[in-house]
Amino acid sequence: MTNSANPKLRSRAWFDNPDNIDMTSLYLERYLNFGLSLEELRSGRPIIGIAQTGSDLSPCNRHHLVLAERIREGIREAGGIALEFPVHPIQETGKRPTAGLDRNLAYLGLVEALYGYPIDGVVLTTGCDKTTPALLMAAATVNIPAIALSVGPMLNGWHKGERTGSGTIVWKGRELLAAGELDEEGFIKLVASSAPSTGYCNTMGTATTMNSLAEALGMMLPGSAAIPAPYRDRQECAYRTGKRIVEMVHEDLKPSNILTKEAFRNAIVVNSAIGGSTNAPIHLAAIARHVGVDLPLKDWETYGHKVPLLVNLQPAGEYLGEDYYRAGGVPAVVAQLIGQGLIEEGAMTVNGKTIGENCRDAPIEDERVIRTFDRVILKEAGFLVLTGNLFDAAIMKTSVIGEDFRSRYLSNPEDPEAFEGPAIVFDGPEDYHRRIDDPSLAITPETLMFMRGAGPIGYPGAAEVVNMRPPAYLITEGVTALPCIGDGRQSGTSGSPSILNASPEAAAMGGLALLETGDRVRIDLRKGTVNVLISDEELAARHAALEAKGGYPYPASQTPWQELQRKVVGQLNTGAILEGSEKYQRIAQTMGLP
Ligand code: FES
Ligand code: MG
Repeated sequence: MTNSANPKLRSRAWFDNPDNIDMTSLYLERYLNFGLSLEELRSGRPIIGIAQTGSDLSPCNRHHLVLAERIREGIREAGGIALEFPVHPIQETGKRPTAGLDRNLAYLGLVEALYGYPIDGVVLTTGCDKTTPALLMAAATVNIPAIALSVGPMLNGWHKGERTGSGTIVWKGRELLAAGELDEEGFIKLVASSAPSTGYCNTMGTATTMNSLAEALGMMLPGSAAIPAPYRDRQECAYRTGKRIVEMVHEDLKPSNILTKEAFRNAIVVNSAIGGSTNAPIHLAAIARHVGVDLPLKDWETYGHKVPLLVNLQPAGEYLGEDYYRAGGVPAVVAQLIGQGLIEEGAMTVNGKTIGENCRDAPIEDERVIRTFDRVILKEAGFLVLTGNLFDAAIMKTSVIGEDFRSRYLSNPEDPEAFEGPAIVFDGPEDYHRRIDDPSLAITPETLMFMRGAGPIGYPGAAEVVNMRPPAYLITEGVTALPCIGDGRQSGTSGSPSILNASPEAAAMGGLALLETGDRVRIDLRKGTVNVLISDEELAARHAALEAKGGYPYPASQTPWQELQRKVVGQLNTGAILEGSEKYQRIAQTMGLP
């Protein structure tokens, strides 16, 4: 046991402060109320917070309510005292208007809890999409020792002998429904088959991505991100995580020691190799800004674009979460990348060892699921960063560009990797759903579909709506995907080759606000450009006319938080954080409390 009184513990300012015996007695009396003894509270044992994201409102993370018991046992075993508390709930698919609105709210709440209460270290219970970045952002700001525990993915889904993956099956089901091959009940049953157990989405969506990246960043025990939620290994991992955070407090191993530039580069490289979500650049930018690391969007292309896809998980591939774990999970992927010199091996991790020490020798257990470099699934699997007169920055996940799309749009030998077409413009998801099947829009296989009003201000929090299915009549003709471009986000479980996260958004008067249906737009992936083919003068005139009308219109706020966040939220290319909050850094060390 390592529970000798540590004079540096910040919790001693509450429970063992001879200079302020009045307040100390008040703090003690109320925490004794919880059933702890005076002896325990004054023993110099580290107080470990368990930031609990599981609740009935958050089914993806609900299993953390069970895992917390094992975390507590680990904390107690190592000589710490556990205090569990709730984090503002975030559930990706159930929250209206979008869970994107809640990441910064959960962040704010957790910063206050970690800073303002007697907590020496914290276990971050991560899982569903936004929960992982929200918690890492808060840990980065406060900078007390912190370790993440993934709740783990659901078991694999099955339907008629085939794997059905979270989210991905919805996109497929929608096509079948639109084509009349499935009725509503059949559609619901097909979708439900993808969710056979507790845990988060079993595809390489944003949840699997962000938990894999939390491990790649060094914030999770090696090998732990991919363990499925119901597996016994998950319980054991919760116990080890609880033990380890107590040691981290004694070692004073903090997020700022782990979340370095090297760690973020590693995460970018890993993201390409796993075929990670297009939400990852937003969330990593946010975490980086809160810990004070410079991570421009262009780094995703510089370090990530050429890295091949090694992990064969839906939506880019075939398999699901259980297969990923059995094949070796994150360490097996990192080992392959180390073999090519693509990983900064010296980056520190929560177990006190470097990522190189942890992963160098990790084997692949199933080469169908995790590939070696001589059998990659796709050569350049990272993101392209695009720019032009419609936005300053947007990204495209090239790993999901299918053969059908490639042959239709990207195979002109005279003009490789480039195409152009007329734009159809939708103002938000409601407008799209109302009009998409209207034959008078005359959408053809050449049309480029634009979604605007879906950014952090326009659709507060930024909606996951850029990937749009074509009209039903095109689907029945076999055109299942048109190019989509927009200022919103895209679900990580979607296999659509969209250009998204366009910043600045229409609601911030970015170029998309000036686009009109019928304008011709040219996309050149080799040059990294997206341009509407009209003159600068015409664009300036449209800008002036829209300004005169009060700017790009977007719906009124429905809640106080929507209004407050809209005033200060930044754009997707820089993390969509609460602008100004990034100046509060390492506040456990710098803002007065010990
Ligand atoms: Fe929660 Fe996918 S909806 S993890
Ligand atoms: Mg999502």
